[in-house]
Amino acid sequence: MVNAKVLDIIKERFSVRKYKDQPIEDDKLDVILESARLAPSATNAQPWHFYVVKDLEKRRALSEKMPLGGKMVGNSFIAEAPIVVVATAGPISILHKAASFIVNKKWYYLDIAIALEHMVLTAWELGVGSCWVGWFNEKNVKRLLDIPKDREVVAMLTLGYVADSAVPRPKNRKKLDDIVSYS
Ligand SMILES: Cc1cc2nc3c(=O)[nH]c(=O)nc-3n(C[C@H](O)[C@H](O)[C@H](O)COP(=O)(O)O)c2cc1C
Repeated sequence: MVNAKVLDIIKERFSVRKYKDQPIEDDKLDVILESARLAPSATNAQPWHFYVVKDLEKRRALSEKMPLGGKMVGNSFIAEAPIVVVATAGPISILHKAASFIVNKKWYYLDIAIALEHMVLTAWELGVGSCWVGWFNEKNVKRLLDIPKDREVVAMLTLGYVADSAVPRPKNRKKLDDIVSYS
């Protein structure tokens, strides 16, 4: 039987939205960030910069609610996580811009996504939970963290030890037959 260690981590991992009030050790954080640094990127542009937010007031600000369908919706768990990584892209090199323009793809989104997912999987292996966050007000995030104009906030990632009360949702996924075609 084929056994892939990384697949065990992928199967086990779930989005964590409840965290222990316990900081992440610096050496663990360094390993998690190192896994992002080593991620592949189109033209090896490495177009990322990661803002590591530990300050409680800033985490609170990052969890701000925004209107959606007549309701105010937010991610209150952001303030609960001891660390929030704000992943930004830019400045994008001419080569990267030109090549991705030709194929009509925003490669830098892919690059940031790969780097963040490296962090997610490495964190899980170290016993640290995480959750991707795509729901944020970019303008406010940039102002809060003093992010330069030529950097775009692509996504955020919460990191922290999983609270005992955190329950994984069922892995509700499409079947392999429905998402793969062979020829
Ligand atoms: C790009 C992206 C953005 C996401 N944004 C949010 C978010 O803003 N808030 C949230 O609670 N979860 C967010 N998620 C987590 C997804 O809801 C979650 O991955 C999905 O429901 C599958 O659940 P699982 O991660 O537990 O397997 C996001 C995930 C991705 C990949």
